[in-house]
This record gives sequence, C-alpha cells and structure tokens, in this order.
Amino acid sequence: MTLPSKRILLIISGGIAAYKSLDLIRRLRERGASVRVILTKAAQQFVTPLAAGAIAGERAFTDLFDAVTEFDIGHIRLARDCDLVVVAPATADLMAKMAGGHADDLASTVLLATDRPILIAPAMNPVMWSHKATARNLAQLQTDGVKTVGPNAGEMAESGEAGTGRMAEPLEIVAAIERLLAAVDGPRGILSGQSILVTSGPTHEAIDPVRYLANRSSGKQGHAIARAAAEAGAAVTLVSGPVKLPDPPGMKVIHVESARAMLAAVEAGLPADAAVFAAAVADWRVAEAGTQKTKKTTAGPPTLSLVENPDILATVAKRKTDRPRLVVGFAAETERVVEYARAKLARKGCDWIVANDVSKESGVMGGDRNTVHLVTARGIEAWPSQSKEEVARALVARIAEALKVPTAPVK
Ligand SMILES: Cc1cc2nc3c(=O)[nH]c(=O)nc-3n(C[C@H](O)[C@H](O)[C@H](O)COP(=O)(O)O)c2cc1C
Repeated sequence: MTLPSKRILLIISGGIAAYKSLDLIRRLRERGASVRVILTKAAQQFVTPLAAGAIAGERAFTDLFDAVTEFDIGHIRLARDCDLVVVAPATADLMAKMAGGHADDLASTVLLATDRPILIAPAMNPVMWSHKATARNLAQLQTDGVKTVGPNAGEMAESGEAGTGRMAEPLEIVAAIERLLAAVDGPRGILSGQSILVTSGPTHEAIDPVRYLANRSSGKQGHAIARAAAEAGAAVTLVSGPVKLPDPPGMKVIHVESARAMLAAVEAGLPADAAVFAAAVADWRVAEAGTQKTKKTTAGPPTLSLVENPDILATVAKRKTDRPRLVVGFAAETERVVEYARAKLARKGCDWIVANDVSKESGVMGGDRNTVHLVTARGIEAWPSQSKEEVARALVARIAEALKVPTAPVK
C-alpha cells in the first residue's frame, strides 16, 4: 500500500473524462487511501453521486447549501479534513474559477477554503486548452502553488478531435498524488546512513568589538535544508552564522560568527557524504579589526582596508582528502543569475550550484519563497517558485538520488 491512511478529497468537475475518475477512486482505495468525493452540478451530467459514493464507500457531496451536510460536516471541514485535494477532471471553467478566487458552489468554495495542497488534472478540448484565457488561468494557478498532472496529447472523446487536452490516465494521477504526498511528508528515510554538512546564514566580520560587516541573509533556506536532510534520516551538522532562527531539532548545530570560524567548523565537520554551502559568506573582512572600539575623531572617518576571506566552497571542493562526494554551492546573484552560476560551478570545482536571484525585487533575502535554478555538469534546471521548505525537500530528494550511486564523486 503506497497511500496508507491518506485522505484524498476528490473534486469531479463537468468534463467528459469524469467517468475515468470513478476508476481513479478505485485505484486510490486499493492503495490504502480514503476518498471523499465532491461533484459539481455539471459533473453530475456525466457520473452520478450514487456511483461515485458507492465506489468511494461514503456518500458524495454536491451542494453548498445542503442543510444536512452543512450541520453534519460543513464545507470548511470538507476543505480541511484531508491530506490533499485532487481535481480530476479539472474543467476550463473550474480552473478559471479557481484562478479568480470564486466560491459560488461547493467545489469552488472548498477549493478556496482549503489550506491543503491541490493537484489538478485538466481535461478539455484542445482549443479550450490552448486558449489564452486558459493559459493565463493555468499560469496563475501554478503561481498560487497548485500542482498539475497532464493533460496528455491524443484522441479526444469527441469524434475527429485530437490534440492536447486528454485527462492524464488514472494511474498517472495516482503517481502524481504519491509524489506530491511524499514531498509534503518529507522524504523520510531516503538519506538514512548518510552524513550531510550544511552551512547557513550570513557571517559577521568584525571591524572592532562593537561593529561588523554583514549581509542580509536570514539563514531560512540553509536551515530548511538542514531540517529536510534530518527529516530524511541524515546525520546533519549545521554550521550557522549569526541568525535569528531557533536551532533545528535532531542535528548538531555549530554557531560561528566569521568566515574563518565557519571554515574551521566546516573542516572539523568532515568527512561527510555531501556538503551544502548555503551560507552567504562575506567575501571580505577588515584587514586589522580593532581590539578596542574605534573612536570618532576630528580627523574624519576611518578608512577600512579589506582583505579577502577564505573561499569555503572552493576550499572544500578542491580538497584531496575527505572531499564530500557531493559538494553543493549556492550562488546569490542580483543579475545574470544563470550565467554567473555556471561560471561559479567551473571556478569553484563544486558539483552543483543552486542559483537564486536575490535582487531586491525578488524578495528572496529574508523572504519565505525562492525561485532557483539547479546548475549541474549535465545542464540547468529551472525550478518553479516554491517555499524555502519545498526547495529544501526537493534538493534533499535530489541529493539522496545522487548519493545512491556508490561511486565518487557525484556529478
Ligand atoms: C458533452 C460535454 C462535454 C464536456 N466536456 C468538457 C471537458 O472535457 N472539459 C471542459 O473544460 N468542459 C467540458 N464541457 C463544458 C463544461 O461541462 C461546462 O463548462 C460546465 O459549465 C463546467 O462546469 P463545472 O466547471 O462547474 O464542472 C463539456 C460539456 C458537454 C456538454
């Protein structure tokens, strides 16, 4: 059973593919999930609530203003008492309503009221699918974090019509549900037996005992990666610069201030199977930090003479001994993000670069979301805009996959 005790809320909207959703219910139940079904008014033209309810093993829901249901379960509980909401088929109409935030029937109200992940399986005529309005709605839904599966290309139910618009097959939808729920749960166990070193946060470079040079890194992304790796079963060492975040549980946390202290802690943390350098290490420090507070004088402001800090990523990536099999760097750029990340991959000798746009408009520094590119020797992947936790889980899944190959180093 791949979906034991998972609770799926399945919304069936009014497309010809609705008949396949009855099979989807059966497939989900076979895998241990419980399925609760909502049908739109149009969906009931294609399948009956009786059939859907009989296969699901509990009555199907159809009306927002159903006094019995509202007192019994209520639309808000329907929206929340589940692990995942699946819309299959998702009509052009329901996608438009979701994108616009409408709530004028049970399905759309539940979709607006839910705080659970949503997966849609669009299905419609190819002309409807390629219509600019549908493309706009889809883009909006994806920005809002809604996940999609399909549609596929092929023959339409209407005779003589072909193109992209067929609903994904029930087993494809099941696979997408399994992937999504695995990502939500955290990929438990996939890194067990592996040790992962993570750096996070900024560094502070002393000017004198009270002043320092720093940057705007919050440590949210690095800490999320350490947490996701620990949840995946890894033995994690987190080397953290000064941040306002609590120490994540279940790992060794080493607090440092400066780049030099971070390098020392990282080297002491080796060997490790993989190292992820998410910290925003200051490139420079003051050549001679004052031992006393620098006083304001009539001679004017002091001149700060800077020297380069050690390059932690390159130092570890180029080690002859105890080099982690996978060395992942982060590139925070404000312009030409991918181009600079590629150059950094080559220059530093690391295996992967996670490139993120930290320009002011992106809101990444200190924010909760991140849009990254994963740059490897094999190419560049553009990941969708996600929460920093989602980026962390996706990266951890990739690390686990890479470490599965028992050769060194990983590319
Ligand atoms: C025979 C028939 C088949 C239809 N198939 C689809 C379809 O596959 N996809 C779609 O988006 N709309 C389809 N429609 C149109 C929808 O049923 C219509 O837009 C309806 O208002 C959708 O309501 P709902 O989104 O609340 O379920 C079909 C209509 C008919 C009459």
